[in-house]
Formats: sequence, C-alpha cells, structure tokens
Amino acid sequence: MTNNKTYFVANWKMHGSVNSVQSIKNVIKLSKKPKYKNTKIVYCPPYTLIRQFVEKTKKTKIDVGAQNCHFENNFGSFTGSVNANMIKNIGSKFVIIGHSESRISGDTNKTINLKIKSAIKANLKIIFCFGETLKEKRNKMTNKVINYQIKKGLHKIKNIKNIFFAYEPVWSIGTGIIPKINELDKQVREIKKIIKKNYKAKNAKILYGGSVNSQNILALKKISSIKGFLIGGASLNSKNFIDIIKKTIN
Ligand code: PGA
Repeated sequence: MTNNKTYFVANWKMHGSVNSVQSIKNVIKLSKKPKYKNTKIVYCPPYTLIRQFVEKTKKTKIDVGAQNCHFENNFGSFTGSVNANMIKNIGSKFVIIGHSESRISGDTNKTINLKIKSAIKANLKIIFCFGETLKEKRNKMTNKVINYQIKKGLHKIKNIKNIFFAYEPVWSIGTGIIPKINELDKQVREIKKIIKKNYKAKNAKILYGGSVNSQNILALKKISSIKGFLIGGASLNSKNFIDIIKKTIN
C-alpha cells in the first residue's frame, strides 16, 4: 500500500452493548504507537453507543462514525430516524451511506443521494458504499451497476473531497468469500476510472469491504489502489481487528 493514510473502518452493524466500548482499549493502545501514525481507525458502532465511543477515543486519533442517517437536515417528525447534524453534534466525524444492508431495508439511489448531500452539509466524511449482487456479477453487469450506483448516488454533487468510495460486492459481505485478487485489482482500477471521468478526481479514496479477515488481508493489501478496508464481523473482536491492522501495516 502506497502513500498517505490507510483506513480501517469497523462497521459494527447491529452489535454491541454498554460494556462493549471497554473492548477497544487495545486498539486504542495500538493506534498510539508511532508505527501506526499513518493509520486511521474509524469505529462505526450503532447509534446507541456512538457517544460512549466518542468519549473513549477523545484523546486519540481514532474517529467515530454512524452507520446511516436520514436525508433531512432539520429536526422533524421522522420516527426512528437520526439526521446528519445530530450525528455530527454527538462527535461523530463519519457516516456510512448506501450500505447494501441499508439498501435492502429501503434505501434507494435517490435517498442515498439526498443523504450524501445532507451529510456533506453537516460536514461529515462519507463512506459511500456500492457493489453488485451475485446475480449481477454472473450476468457480467458489475461495471454497469457500479457506474449507475456511483452516478445516481452522487447526482449533482461536485465536491467529492469528503467522500470515501467503499466497494462492497454484496456476495462477499458476511460470506467469507472475497473476489479473486487480480479481479479485484482490475475492478478497483475500473472504479477509479469512473470517478476520474465523472469527477476529475485522480486521488479518490477507495476502500474495499466484504469478508476482510486476518487471513485474507495479506492478499488484499497487495492491491495498491485500495486505501483501506471496511470491516464488519472481524472488527467486533479487538484481537482480530488488531491482527488485520498489524498485517496490513507491517
Ligand atoms: P463483513 O461486512 O466484513 O462482515 O463481510 C462488511 C460490511 O458489511 O461492511
């Protein structure tokens, strides 16, 4: 992995209780070592735990993020929802938008676009997720799907400096299966091309997510155009998460 920062984003999904924050103490310790000065760790716990994570990581370089937000910036009658300003207000710096699990529960390219706009307004960094399903892959539609999701998700957005592009093939999430390294390398280059063509951004930050673990990380880290990883299951246990970070940075 070349130049500047390497990102490790822990997506805790619907996991964690009030005591969970204690489990990250060794990750905090690791993040303070000089060797990891160019490593950016971001914890995205459920909304209920964000405040605790923000407190716990206050004097560290670790950032905290939310896993989704509403598209409306103002307060309003949206039962069960939290908006980008509220996320910013409790000390989060990041928000994940467009995760395939959120798409399954109702997010569309249109709402994702509105959410990204609202997160930009709130001055949050955005981890924008996209990726093809197994059926789409089998039908050789991967590039078409990714192109469409990126274009629609970023419709009328010019400034992408706070956007991280998280390529997450749906068939890889939680399955233990990752793409073949040469195919993933090719795919990430393709994504770079799409971004460069549409946004004139040469240095867009591309993350990979889907079954990243302490075994496959050695192969994944060889892909130099990937700037970091979005990690679900393997980030819940600090030892596994630390293993992944150590193996990437070594
Ligand atoms: P996984 O999840 O690492 O458990 O596959 C990744 C994600 O959904 O972001």
